[in-house]
Amino acid sequence: MKQRRILVAVGGGIAAYKIPELVRAFRRVGHEVRCVLTESAAHFVSPLSLQTVSGQPVRSQLFDAVEEGSIDHIALADWAELVVVAPATANLMARLAHGLADDLVSTLALATRAPLLLAPAMNVHMWEHPATQANLSLLRERGAQQVGPGTGDLACGYEGEGRMAEPAEIAARSEILLGRRDLAGVRVLVTAGGTREPVDAVRFLGNRSSGKMGFEVAREVVVRGGEAVLVSASSALPTPEGTRRVDVVTALEMREAVLEELPDCQVVVMAAAVADFRPASPSATKLRKEDLPEEAGLRLDLVRTPDILAEICREKTGRVVVGFAAESHDVLASAQRKLARKGCDLIVANDISESSSGFDVDRNTVSFVWPDSPVEELPPLSKQEVAAQLLDRVSKLLDHRR
Ligand code: CTP
Repeated sequence: MKQRRILVAVGGGIAAYKIPELVRAFRRVGHEVRCVLTESAAHFVSPLSLQTVSGQPVRSQLFDAVEEGSIDHIALADWAELVVVAPATANLMARLAHGLADDLVSTLALATRAPLLLAPAMNVHMWEHPATQANLSLLRERGAQQVGPGTGDLACGYEGEGRMAEPAEIAARSEILLGRRDLAGVRVLVTAGGTREPVDAVRFLGNRSSGKMGFEVAREVVVRGGEAVLVSASSALPTPEGTRRVDVVTALEMREAVLEELPDCQVVVMAAAVADFRPASPSATKLRKEDLPEEAGLRLDLVRTPDILAEICREKTGRVVVGFAAESHDVLASAQRKLARKGCDLIVANDISESSSGFDVDRNTVSFVWPDSPVEELPPLSKQEVAAQLLDRVSKLLDHRR
């Protein structure tokens, strides 16, 4: 594997004690690592340990003549091919989000052109606070990547989301950002959002899907060097960089777009919530109450839409096809029946009755349901991470088929 230059920026949180293990993981595969610390990080991990495991001098001061003499901060920012901020504390993310440059770590984050990988770690209430989430969104919008946090016992005594991702996970994510382009040369068709089936000139039958999950999958495909074609029934979200987007409204339009793109795609991820029924004869004009008898109700005649996923599975020809199943009850059994009925390679099932999961939130708790191996139940994760985990599986399936 090609050796790369990784700058590890350590924040002041208890999880900093795991950073020597991360540095060792990088060095084991031959990467060069330099560590910088915020002032508070030194309370949790000793600079000397980091210096020993990295084999390089460690820096923590911006205005220290000796430290600047060995490598100045701009040279260090230019040196890095990847900046890993771990643990990314609430305070550190707030400062990075607002572009402060009042210490060495924040200055380096502004000065570098390298991709930024954040490994957040903090108390669950701090993590869930809207200020922290807003800062993270801002950083993500500017291209920062995120790994974790996981769920479990927290050092503060609480249980919940906020544990820093394990060093091995941070190292694996770093490899992808450094160009372990496991989807290079692969074109992935992703559908996203909820279709809208017109009732009349102004009304439609729709569903609560925001499209976020599919958009995260498309974004992740590009990060891994693949080509993403995003057939989207959701107009509200910005197009992820590097993806080709085809906007559609109805299930029939989605089917047409999917069938047109399909021949050139080696992978299909059907994350869209496609309407199963549509009004049989939508009115071209607005339906008015005054055109109906007083007090009369309105009956809509609905007809079935084609099942796009089932249709493309009938002629898979080596393609990897993934479906989604958002269920409110009987989640795994229903997903298993769907998998068998439609014939796809994998179903990503989620329980929409849980508040940590499902529609219009940034997180999702999913299970991977396979035709012939046991169900994999994942902990609550950001949608970006669900996308990453999903594409890890897709990449392995492609490897097997090659
Ligand atoms: N799907 C599709 N075409 C449809 C309906 C669904 O391609 N007309 C796809 C979705 O994109 C998703 C999977 O099938 O990947 C499962 O969708 P879901 O709505 O959960 O399943 P249905 O088969 O519609 O079953 P039901 O809604 O009755 O649970």
